[in-house]
Amino acid sequence: MPNNTSEQQLTQWQVKWQEWKEKAKVYRDRILALPNDSFEKTLAVAFWVCMACAVVVAFSAVALRPLQVSNKAADMKKNILEVVGLWEKGLDIDEAFKQFDTKVISLETGDIIEDMDPNTFDMRKAAKDPAMSKEIPRERDIAGIKRKPKYATVYFLKDDSGEVKAIVLPVWGYGLWSTMYGFLALEPDCNTVIGINFYDQGETPGLGGEVVNPDWRALWKGKKVYDESGAPVLRLVKGSVNPEQAGSEYKVDGLAGATLTSNGVSNLIRFWMSEDGYKPFLDKFCGQ
Ligand SMILES: Cc1cc2nc3c(=O)[nH]c(=O)nc-3n(C[C@H](O)[C@H](O)[C@H](O)COP(=O)(O)O)c2cc1C
Repeated sequence: MPNNTSEQQLTQWQVKWQEWKEKAKVYRDRILALPNDSFEKTLAVAFWVCMACAVVVAFSAVALRPLQVSNKAADMKKNILEVVGLWEKGLDIDEAFKQFDTKVISLETGDIIEDMDPNTFDMRKAAKDPAMSKEIPRERDIAGIKRKPKYATVYFLKDDSGEVKAIVLPVWGYGLWSTMYGFLALEPDCNTVIGINFYDQGETPGLGGEVVNPDWRALWKGKKVYDESGAPVLRLVKGSVNPEQAGSEYKVDGLAGATLTSNGVSNLIRFWMSEDGYKPFLDKFCGQ
């Protein structure tokens, strides 16, 4: 005979469980005994198949979540390594990424915010959070993104002596069908382009989707973002750029048959390199 309350409760639960199991068994036998084309059996089989699938899907979603998060982080690191030309097949991403010093900056003041942790700050998420972002007035929203985060993540590629070799800036803006998310890498002069890549976009493959084409992306190397007055003038032009022509350093070939996506790329560069974007930070960093 149980001698305390919790043991009594346990026994009561065990009795209830046994009763429930018996009832379930009777119910199962009754359903299985029904003809296959009976309405009740069809409904019961469909219900239990759905329940089993729901359990599998829910379990997978929860169990695979940490893996998804770590894969996403590794993919982001790979894109950052790629935009500065360091990515190659078989590379140890985490080891190579140690060459980067990641900081959170204030887009308003351009200051580095040392007490914000770049490992937990998510700039894309922040752009959607009313507390962490600002609405962009319509006339200034040339990238078509509606809100901008108050803070941004900036990646500094450093050499062994700690000298900055490249600055990688997250950028995004609307193309024809989608918001295109990417990175722009600049030389330490805060003006010369090292590279650009787009890791998340939904433009038409073969047309606007050519923003991911390595041959087109290679055209960006050495281009200048700011003119002598400090205005962000780098843009895509229709057709091919004549390297002999004055001002060619501020122009990149537009994407053939994709003028609207090309305009989106020009606009997002102009927005993120302006006072609304990274200019306050770049002016401070390069002491312009
Ligand atoms: C199915 C379809 C998909 C298209 N996808 C794109 C696209 O991703 N980006 C783009 O700029 N234009 C796209 N276009 C073409 C645009 O409608 C438009 O004609 C083009 O941007 C004009 O560029 P062009 O002056 O270089 O020809 C697409 C057109 C069609 C019919």
